[in-house]
Amino acid sequence: MAGPAFRAAAVRVRVPATSANLGPGFDAFGLALGLYDDVVVRVADSGLTVDIAGEGAENLARDERHLVVRSMRAAFDRLGGQPRGLEVVCANRIPHGRGLGSSSAAICAGIVAARAVTIGGASALGDDALLALASELEGHPDNVAACLRGNFTVAWTEDGGARTVTLDPSDRVVPVVFIPSTEVLTEAARGLLPKTVPLADAALNAGRAALLVEALTRRPELLLAATEDRLHQDYRASAMPDSAALVAALRSEGVPAVISGAGPTVLALTDEASAVKVLNFAGAQFAAHRLELDRTGATVLPLDM
Ligand code: HSE
Repeated sequence: MAGPAFRAAAVRVRVPATSANLGPGFDAFGLALGLYDDVVVRVADSGLTVDIAGEGAENLARDERHLVVRSMRAAFDRLGGQPRGLEVVCANRIPHGRGLGSSSAAICAGIVAARAVTIGGASALGDDALLALASELEGHPDNVAACLRGNFTVAWTEDGGARTVTLDPSDRVVPVVFIPSTEVLTEAARGLLPKTVPLADAALNAGRAALLVEALTRRPELLLAATEDRLHQDYRASAMPDSAALVAALRSEGVPAVISGAGPTVLALTDEASAVKVLNFAGAQFAAHRLELDRTGATVLPLDM
């Protein structure tokens, strides 16, 4: 059987950074942030070229091992066949190993680009299949759901596939990220988690996670209580002591703060009136940035943007 046909024109895909967990929503909640990687892909006659600028340019593989390329290959397999050649250009702005979803961004960029350069790709690999594939490649659905759909996502796995609902975070929420210079690998941070947790801790997290849906969408004044977590942050604190201390300092001042994903970035969910004061918590170990909420998720853009 003949494989798929491909577009001759290049496509540009923009994918947002994401913050997973948001405190109590371990492996379920994700928030898309206005910090983006761009990937430009063109189907070529032969071979593979990978250019990288920005984050990871010094150490990422420029061959089949690159995560964008591996993700494209997986998507092309689902779409019915590989192109003869590929040119991939990555402009990376999401820092790596910091809990801001850089690997999910690479995966989502790759599969969205593969679909976009394949004629009939959108019907062959629909949005639900795209999410399921991204989650399979990433190993958990929380970051990829927010990266693909934008906004605030609640993801879960059912019948072996990832699913998500997308909610609109309140316009009053202003995200501030505190990014340290050191990396923490997600695998290492997951290795610190216990196999079982006390029932009281599980119960607290379930209640706070439910509350966070209301707080983040409609009542940000409840965010401090709603972002409390007992399932993962304390267990991981030894791998990111400065981040754990910053979360504690912010929370003691009434600022809703959490470890972003598997860390070590700290995410504060603040508001317009407090954002400047919150940025001043950064100290020497962290680069603090006020970000926008991303409302669109992974997007195929015209090439001149
Ligand atoms: N939910 C995942 C974790 C996010 O906390 O391990 C990793 O990016």
